[in-house]
Amino acid sequence: MVTNKIDEVKRLLLERIASSESPREILKAPELKALYDEISRLPVAERASFGRSVNELRTELSDAVETVEQSVQSKSIQPLDVTAPWQAGGSKPDFLPMIQGSQHPLTMELEEVIDIFTRMGFEAIESRQIDSDFNMFSALNFPENHPARDGYDTFRTEEGFIPPAHTSTMQHRILKQGKLKLEAGGDIAAISYGRVFRNEDVDATHEHTFYQVEGVFVSESATLGQMLGTLRGFFEAYYGQELKIKTQPAYFPFVEPGLEFAIEKPAALGGQPGEWLEMLGCGMIHPNVLEMAGIDSRRYRGFAWGGGVERLVMLKYGIDDLRHFEAARLKFLRKFA
Ligand code: PHE
Repeated sequence: MVTNKIDEVKRLLLERIASSESPREILKAPELKALYDEISRLPVAERASFGRSVNELRTELSDAVETVEQSVQSKSIQPLDVTAPWQAGGSKPDFLPMIQGSQHPLTMELEEVIDIFTRMGFEAIESRQIDSDFNMFSALNFPENHPARDGYDTFRTEEGFIPPAHTSTMQHRILKQGKLKLEAGGDIAAISYGRVFRNEDVDATHEHTFYQVEGVFVSESATLGQMLGTLRGFFEAYYGQELKIKTQPAYFPFVEPGLEFAIEKPAALGGQPGEWLEMLGCGMIHPNVLEMAGIDSRRYRGFAWGGGVERLVMLKYGIDDLRHFEAARLKFLRKFA
């Protein structure tokens, strides 16, 4: 009768061990403890053999526990899936330590910029890092051999491709794709963001590689006033405060009129009254640029702007040197982690 009890506990606990991922606790099960307690209550003659059987049971159970533990462990060190954010093979996600990495400040801020413009209704498109002479110049109303091309001195591959010197290289694509939207009664509203490249000597305010964000808006009634409102709205959202803005005439072949857009450096960011910071170039899209994309310039009008991302971020955080961004120095990067 008593040995039956041992068999019963054995069956029960072996079953539990087999189906557990961390079975060691089961060795402390009350059922097993009850068997040990039973020993002292038995007639003296039976104690020894019953005690031995209970000990054997315990050994058998702890062997079973070890077998299960080993198989759980070998499963968890099996294949390393480098694409999984946790350790593969484990029963529950065992997350890999993430302390090493953080987003680059430019990525972080670019996401903020994109977020503000998409909330205003602009679609966001990444710009290309290699483009054609056509998108860089011809489609933007730069005549062949015109000196305005000199302002965009960039690199060229042996095949004649160009790492773009500004995100305006995306304008023609945006306009061409948006043409159908216009004809269906809608507007074109898109921003394009990405890396641009210039043949520059590097110093605290110049880099050969930097980021720009470009905006393009076309409708039957777009105005310069709408553009200034859009830009002011953006800068005020980005810096979280009201700002004074001003413009002055500037020349870009792809806009007419063309403007430089400046904001007054906010006192909260260390600015003095009357201290203006030029943030970007902008203007009404030149009719030739619209026509190049097949858009009727007598019916539709648009505005465009483009400017550097680093400049925005430097002002926001009081960063004094553009070279910090590409220097890969952890001391700098961790301030934004
Ligand atoms: N692409 C110009 C630059 O980088 C800026 C610009 C964009 C000006 C769009 C007008 C319209 O200098």
